[in-house]
Amino acid sequence: CHILILNGPNLNLLGTRQPEVYGTTTLSDIQDACERQAKALGVSVSFMQSNHEGQLVDAIHAARGTHHGIILNAGAYTHTSIALMDAVSSVGIPTIELHLSNVHAREAFRHNSYVAKVALGVIAGFGAGGYPLALSAMVGHLGSQSS
Ligand code: DQA
Repeated sequence: CHILILNGPNLNLLGTRQPEVYGTTTLSDIQDACERQAKALGVSVSFMQSNHEGQLVDAIHAARGTHHGIILNAGAYTHTSIALMDAVSSVGIPTIELHLSNVHAREAFRHNSYVAKVALGVIAGFGAGGYPLALSAMVGHLGSQSS
């Protein structure tokens, strides 16, 4: 099965961006780890990052018919984007919302998530380690659906 790992705005700066909040692992380290883990699990992953809301919407649309699950760290768009929420509902692909930080322990404006309303589940607060958790959760979910 094919899983899309989609990263939103400012996540290209991981490693140097507020390391006290987000850690020092870079997005390319995370991509490498996801690709290694995918190989071990016998699945394939596509890894993407965009700073542009519309490109994220396009990537979710393009996952239709090509990917069985989406892991979405939408960054700040999580808290603002009805368009991303609608894109996830429109394609009907199981989606796990992911955050490096525990958004619920942070500013009030990070407590609402439009994506969570249409997500299978949410993983937050485990830093870069959330990516492997999300990947194994998705493989477990898809496996139990035998897709
Ligand atoms: C984030 C949390 C968001 O609130 C923030 O805007 C981000 C990163 C995270 O992974 O912790 O850009 O999605």
